[in-house]
Amino acid sequence: MSSSSVRRFYDELTADYHRIFPDWDVSIARQATTFDTLLGAHLGPGPHRVLDCACGIGTQAIGLALRGHDVTGTDLSPRAVARAQTEAATRGARITAAVADMRRLPLRPGAFDAVLCADNALPHLLTGDDVAAALAAVHRVLCDDGLLVLTVRDYADIRRTRPTSTSPQLSTTADGGTTITFQLWRWHDDGERYDLRHFQLIPDGHDGRDGSDGTGWRVHERVTTCWALTTAQLTDFATAAGFTDVTWHTPQETGFYQPVLTARR
Ligand SMILES: C[S@@+](CC[C@H](N)C(=O)[O-])C[C@H]1O[C@@H](n2cnc3c(N)ncnc32)[C@H](O)[C@@H]1O
Repeated sequence: MSSSSVRRFYDELTADYHRIFPDWDVSIARQATTFDTLLGAHLGPGPHRVLDCACGIGTQAIGLALRGHDVTGTDLSPRAVARAQTEAATRGARITAAVADMRRLPLRPGAFDAVLCADNALPHLLTGDDVAAALAAVHRVLCDDGLLVLTVRDYADIRRTRPTSTSPQLSTTADGGTTITFQLWRWHDDGERYDLRHFQLIPDGHDGRDGSDGTGWRVHERVTTCWALTTAQLTDFATAAGFTDVTWHTPQETGFYQPVLTARR
């Protein structure tokens, strides 16, 4: 799957991305605590220069900026980057945002104390060369002893059971509309990659689109492909890219819903 199709997936999802969370602002605040704590534990008291290299609409970038860090957010999706800037400004957060592919970061070598890549962004890269290129790019923009923070789904079990769907998630917006989000997965023959069909059911009259009569649902379907990289595979990739102290932290340790990798440049 090409980077343009991943870009299209997230461009199309941008306006509704916050609906993945029961309450996006609560998630921003909770994740800020998680990642701010990790930064402090590894780098000492901040503020730190943080690059969020898959910032999306700003779930982590905004919260970290509100905690006083000097945050740059980059992402493949121009619409997500634009929304991250707007949402940050609305909340009084200062972030520098730009469109960039994490495999080719147009940023100064050594410019950041930490690089964050959160919530399963890396699995959109489908080949070993692409994952290696992204980790090399991140390694290049980190300062000496800088920190990589990466989160992914816990794929080891998932690969054993090869589920074909995710549980529905519900979110209720301020106007009382409840959105249902779920995914259908079709596994490739290699047992590692899967096509992901992302569904959102949004009640009529709650998605800002014209022409609804308030009696049904609008169904949005977007398709992409992911590589279900295990933590062991990612440890190998990070080590090959030159990172040291590669460590996985469990959800019980961090409070985040995915395993979190930390590693030093
Ligand atoms: C699941 S979203 C997570 C976004 C954000 N971190 C959050 O938690 O809200 C994955 C993000 O990775 C971005 N992404 C995928 N491939 C990328 C690439 N090659 N370079 C930069 N960003 C990429 C997507 O555009 C998307 O915004």
